[in-house]
Amino acid sequence: MLKAVPGTNDIFAQAKEYPFREPVFRYIVSTAEEVLRGAGAQMVYTPIFEYLEVFQKGVGLTSDIVVKKEMFVFEDRGGRLLALRPEPTASIVRAYNEHGMKVWPQPVRLFTWGPIFRGERQQKGRYKQFHQVDYEALGLSDPLLDAEAIALMVRIYKTLGLKHLEVKLGSVGDPEDRLRYNQYLRELFGPYAKDLSEDSRVRVEANPMRILDSKSERDQALIAELQPKPMLAFLGPAAQKFHQQVCNYLDRLGVAYTVDPNLVRGLDYYVRTAWEVHHAGIGAKSALGGGGRYDGLSEMLGGPPVPGVGFGIGIERLAIALEQEGVALPADPCPTLYLAPLDEAAKIEVLALAEQLRPKVNVEIGYTPKSPRKALEEALKKGARYVGFIGEDERARGVVTLKHLETGEQRALEPLQLHSLFEGPEIK
Ligand code: HAM
Repeated sequence: MLKAVPGTNDIFAQAKEYPFREPVFRYIVSTAEEVLRGAGAQMVYTPIFEYLEVFQKGVGLTSDIVVKKEMFVFEDRGGRLLALRPEPTASIVRAYNEHGMKVWPQPVRLFTWGPIFRGERQQKGRYKQFHQVDYEALGLSDPLLDAEAIALMVRIYKTLGLKHLEVKLGSVGDPEDRLRYNQYLRELFGPYAKDLSEDSRVRVEANPMRILDSKSERDQALIAELQPKPMLAFLGPAAQKFHQQVCNYLDRLGVAYTVDPNLVRGLDYYVRTAWEVHHAGIGAKSALGGGGRYDGLSEMLGGPPVPGVGFGIGIERLAIALEQEGVALPADPCPTLYLAPLDEAAKIEVLALAEQLRPKVNVEIGYTPKSPRKALEEALKKGARYVGFIGEDERARGVVTLKHLETGEQRALEPLQLHSLFEGPEIK
């Protein structure tokens, strides 16, 4: 029997593990959509695969996604390389440029949700196919948009019922600040390269900032010993002012955060603002969500300058956090009416009646004939308000026997009477 690829998951109501239960997914996506639409953002769906260059240039040659070959790459028939998206931001910037959104009133605020693919080693909260809600505000380089993005992200978490969040806010500076900082780190770590983990040894040259973010204990011990100065100490005046304004705006909005002077993000395109949201339920090493500003990304993709800021929320990790905090999900709607056939010939009559009443009335039916007692039990199990039976007698009289499950009141109703009952005030 064939099985799903490890690190991929089927999402359905009865799934054993909480993050893969469909009602949790639905709750997260519909809440995020409500919050983001309510703030004037519009939905965009981009393809889940693009030309490889979109992501290679976007997430950067020194990011783990590229360095550790975490992208799922394949060839089209013409031999051109394509990749499953390892993140949606580069695709959205590509779409913004391709559809000339630059002439729309700015900023253009877009959001999406869907599957993301990274060939990472599987562990709790880390999968090869996972899902994100993603929000991007494009076309304006103003710290107000950064503060709004953080506030919206926090509002999504809070609306869902999460309480114990930590927003870690940092700045990765402008590209020239980062050059200076990386040079500083290169000089600091260079002489100790042999003491670093294999992954980090490669980073000394390519992207020493990522060493700070290393999950290896060996690297962390060396970092503790060398005590590198933080990125924030290397910000130029413009980036420093920008960062201060984001902080001021968040204070004014009453959004709680802590400044993390060492915050490093895994993607190369960030400039200035960068943040992560953490939650005890998924461990300190992984983030519930993250975001930041990426003012140079459009140019990397061959487009005009388009500043932007946004965030990604990992849906599975968020589901784990909701489970940890014991957040109750909204109940699934119960059927109003459960209609059951008492004999073989009534099966199609039950379906025909259900089809007439749907979608105004939420009707579920029994698919095999059963006794009235069994049908009643079934209706109670489903949380229905009414149970209806059709058997030989009902067919002969052209009626349905309808029982109100709460009061026990039972009547024989003709289809027209049934319609007016369900259109009446009692049902609504
Ligand atoms: P990211 O930090 O790479 O950012 O991913 C965002 C979130 O996706 C993470 O915080 C985590 O919740 C989830 N995530 C990442 N990898 C995995 C995985 N292997 N399994 C499960 N969940 C995972 C981005 O992707 C940026 N595009 C965010 C952004 C938008 N920045 C600006 N705009």
